[in-house]
Order: sequence, then C-alpha cells, then structure tokens
Amino acid sequence: MNKQEIIEILSDNTKNDWLFKEADKIRRENVGDEVHLRGLIEFSNICKRQCKYCGLRSANKEIERYRILKDEILTYVQNAVKMGYRTVVLQSGEDEYYDTDKMVEIIREIKKFDVALTLSIGEKTYDEFKAFKDAGADRYLIRIETTDKKLYQEMHPHASFENRVRCLYDLKSLGFETGTGCLVGLPNQTIESLADDILFFKELDADMIGIGPFIPHEQTPLKDAEKGNFWLALKVMALTRINLPNINIPATTAMETLNPNGRIIALQSGANVVMPNVTSKEYRAKYEIYPGKICINENPEQCRGCIEGKIKAIGRTISREKGFRQKDRS
Ligand code: 5AD
Ligand code: FES
Repeated sequence: MNKQEIIEILSDNTKNDWLFKEADKIRRENVGDEVHLRGLIEFSNICKRQCKYCGLRSANKEIERYRILKDEILTYVQNAVKMGYRTVVLQSGEDEYYDTDKMVEIIREIKKFDVALTLSIGEKTYDEFKAFKDAGADRYLIRIETTDKKLYQEMHPHASFENRVRCLYDLKSLGFETGTGCLVGLPNQTIESLADDILFFKELDADMIGIGPFIPHEQTPLKDAEKGNFWLALKVMALTRINLPNINIPATTAMETLNPNGRIIALQSGANVVMPNVTSKEYRAKYEIYPGKICINENPEQCRGCIEGKIKAIGRTISREKGFRQKDRS
C-alpha cells in the first residue's frame, strides 16, 4: 500500500470490519493458526530517560524501584521453560547497572536453556549490540514510538530520533530479529504520521512490530492528555499485518488495558504472538509504564493457564516452536 491508501483506510471507519477480516486472513495464510507465547521478564524498572508518556521516567519519584539480579532472572527462565515457553523476553528501563559485561553474562546463562532470547533494554552502541549478539541473543525490541520527528523530540527530551533509527539499522545489520513499533494516540499525533510509521516498518523490513494505544500516566507530564483509541491502534496493527504479511505481531498488553478482550480481538485482526509475564507478583505493579496494566495480581502459572484457555477458545493453537519469522512461507 502507498501512503495515500493507508491514510484513506485509517480515516474511514466504515470499512473496519473488512480491514480486520483481511488482516486475519493474511495472518492465517502467512504465519498460520499457531500463537507464539513469549515469557516476559521485566527485570528492572530503573530508567535514566525522560520519555514524557512513560511512568518509569526517572523524574517519577513516586514509584518504588527494583532490580532483579541474575540468579533470580534465571529462576524465572527455568520456570518459563518448565511451563513450555520457547522464548523469553528480557525487558527493563535504561538501567546503567546492567553494563555490557553483566548483560553478556545473563545472556550466556539464559542461552544454556533451549530458548530464543529477546532483549528490550533500550538504546545502545553498535559494539554493545554486537556483544549481546555474540553472547547469543536472538532478537531485540526497540519501538520507534513515532516517526514524526518533531513529535519524537517533544516526547523524548534529551534523546535523538536519529540515534533511535541508527539502533534499529545496527540491530538489523548484526542479524538480530529486529522488533519495533509505535504508540497510537500521542498528543498531536496525526493520521499521516501513523501511515509513515507503517511505511517505516516496511522500509526497515522489521521482523516484529508491537503496537499499542497511548495510556496517560498520572505521574507524567501527559497526565491530562486524552488516551489513545483502541480501534485506531487495532487498525494500525491490522494494516501492519497487511503490509508485512509474514512478520510476528504481538497482541499487546496495552490493547487489553483499554479493552477487556483486547488481546483476543487483536489475535483475530492480524496478531500471532502474546507476551505473558513470567515474573512473580511482587514486581508486576511496580513496572507501571501506564496505569491499569493487566495481570498484576496473577502469578506466572495463572497467566499461562488464562491465555492458553483464551487462545484455544478461538480455535487457535499454541506453538511449541521458538517462533522465528517465517520468511519463506508465501
Ligand atoms: N501508554 C502506552 N504504552 C506506553 N509505553 C510507554 N509508556 C506508555 C504509555 N503511557 C510503551 C512504549 C514502550 C513500551 C515498552 O511501552 O511504546 O516502547
Ligand atoms: Fe495474565 Fe490472563 S494472561 S491473567
């Protein structure tokens, strides 16, 4: 699709049912009915950054900060493997305590289990990414958040859009399965820029795309901003599936925060991945990127059972594979 076609679909709500069905069909034809589960470990909520929308921003003094150290991370990995997960995702704020050596050690230990490993730990240098890759990391997530450069700079004080883009191209060139994505509903975000986001995903040839609605957080400068629209976020996701047919697309937690059936609706509108939390309850509420996060009172076993039931109820199956991008399926 070209930009104009994407804009037309995003601006017209009369064809939403067609769009979601089309994305569901393209998902089935290209990546099948299997849903890949990724076990998410939110191992530190300490962050040096100031992203205006994010509850973990360092200026937020109200949240209790935590770090989960290597041995405890490994117990979550071990338990995740026992529950049948074939991928773990390590996610954190940009926490300088975990320097390259510490991360490399954690990566090596995790890779002793038979799992694919995804990192989601922020902007790094080429050499750091390379060290993670050499240690065995398979995938890396870093959302572009928005391709509207002016909006990007407004949302990310002291950060640079160019560096964000540089990270993504470095990751691709190092052979990571590279994930990115955007927020939908940021203040002053336009439909045109959402179309550009999708074209950017295509240009990068991203392997994974995560899309979620913006949800205002009380302890951020955007506390009074309007929240993003669930259906618009779903449309951006569906259009992403249509334009990048064989990639992996998660039904994001933020979707479910705005709609109690959000992840299942997403799985029926183009998504093929879910990322349940596999850490213990004590950390979940503290990783408050946005309010109303789901699963904060559940343990890993409960989430696993819950999501498995929901996936089976819509006639889909849970993959036993690591779930890399299916490049050569037509
Ligand atoms: N609402 C929704 N999503 C958010 N993220 C950060 N803050 C918010 C918010 N307030 C998303 C960003 C980030 C991901 C980990 O969480 O897109 O990349
Ligand atoms: Fe956590 Fe449903 S996935 S309770």
